[in-house]
Amino acid sequence: MQRLGRSWQRAGVRVGFVPTMGYLHAGHLSLVHRARRLVGPRGQVVVSIYVNPTQFGPQEDLSRYPRDMARDARLCRQASVDVIFAPDDEQMYPRGGASGFSTFVAEEGLSRGMEGKSRPTHFRGVTTVVAKLFNIVQPELAVFGAKDFQQAAIVKRMVRDLNFPLKIVVAPIQREADGLALSSRNKYLAGELRAQALVLRRSLDKAQAEARQASRPVPAARLKAELKRFIERAPAARLDYVEFFDTDTLVAAPNVTRGTHMALAVYIGKTRLIDNARL
Ligand code: PAJ
Repeated sequence: MQRLGRSWQRAGVRVGFVPTMGYLHAGHLSLVHRARRLVGPRGQVVVSIYVNPTQFGPQEDLSRYPRDMARDARLCRQASVDVIFAPDDEQMYPRGGASGFSTFVAEEGLSRGMEGKSRPTHFRGVTTVVAKLFNIVQPELAVFGAKDFQQAAIVKRMVRDLNFPLKIVVAPIQREADGLALSSRNKYLAGELRAQALVLRRSLDKAQAEARQASRPVPAARLKAELKRFIERAPAARLDYVEFFDTDTLVAAPNVTRGTHMALAVYIGKTRLIDNARL
């Protein structure tokens, strides 16, 4: 940790930061490249790799979340990452009963819907760990992916509301050639489930086509019902939520038109996948 934080700032070194939970893929690496472009060849690009327990619910996949530090370190080296910060749980959340960890950061507006509704303690864990990481690394900018659209909006809000002195950059979603958004959790999709996972991207395409072709705004409730039927035609797929909202405010849109934002979460077997797009 000595190499992180204020000493760089004092030396006038530009620092760009990419927080991750590891098991890196081309989506993460696109954020690393973006950070490098922004801080330049003399800047420092820091990647954190930490599977943050406080953002997982009790029934979620914390213990089986995929990990491969050797591979992640190799990918970071190839991508010219300067520093990997990979703390352990005791460093981040010291135990010790009454003298243990007890401070959390919670955003209480944007976190209520969508992912926050399905995963009630998730964003409190995200904002807490991201606030800690920002204080440890002290970057001038941090890059997040649009894949986790609500997360990026909440982090931006936290930075504004709590006056964190850095800039948040949001980079586009990276996809497989067939349209599946890259995700560490795609590893869970064996055989036939991988094909069924395409239903997320197809739902976004279908909604986009309807929003653009309709001669008048499409009622969100009608489109949601239609998409639920469409998604659940795939035998292993179960819709968790689909929502339509304003890209900037996340306020729910009663009617869907070109430019309305759509986000959805779908279980493919036991694996929960998310995706989103501006229609
Ligand atoms: P993780 O899921 O590892 O994602 C780390 C970053 O990579 C996030 O900003 C996420 O949006 C981005 N990302 C993931 N898949 C992407 C894709 N296909 N295209 C572009 N970007 C993608 O998000 C987290 O970790 C955690 O919540 C974290 C912010 C690290 C806090 O623990």
